[in-house]
Amino acid sequence: MSTAEGTADTQGFVRVAALGELEEDAPRRVEVDGTPVSLVRTGGEVFAIHDVCSHANVSLSEGEVDDCRIECWLHGSSFDLRTGEPSGPPATRPVPVYPVKIEGDGPDAAVLVSTTQES
Ligand code: FES
Repeated sequence: MSTAEGTADTQGFVRVAALGELEEDAPRRVEVDGTPVSLVRTGGEVFAIHDVCSHANVSLSEGEVDDCRIECWLHGSSFDLRTGEPSGPPATRPVPVYPVKIEGDGPDAAVLVSTTQES
């Protein structure tokens, strides 16, 4: 059984996109249960990271992706997409990262994110 877009399954995963809608290294901002999340497809994987920098109220989706990190465009801290840890100042605190599930195959595969558990 598939999960409709915006509807949580029993583990809190919500369908947020089709895989084919996500371009490599082009972050996309989505909302999951009211939480802003940046979806990033890079290196054959999809990551979900909280879409607000831990230094100030800046959308990380507007930054660039490189080497499994996303850069905050305002002051240049970059965050590891796997752990949320910043590379260095001015941000000192990590941002939450969330588990991602892919259901199905090909460009129509469903991308699901859960913000009820941090990965
Ligand atoms: S607002 Fe992101 S590093 Fe300053």
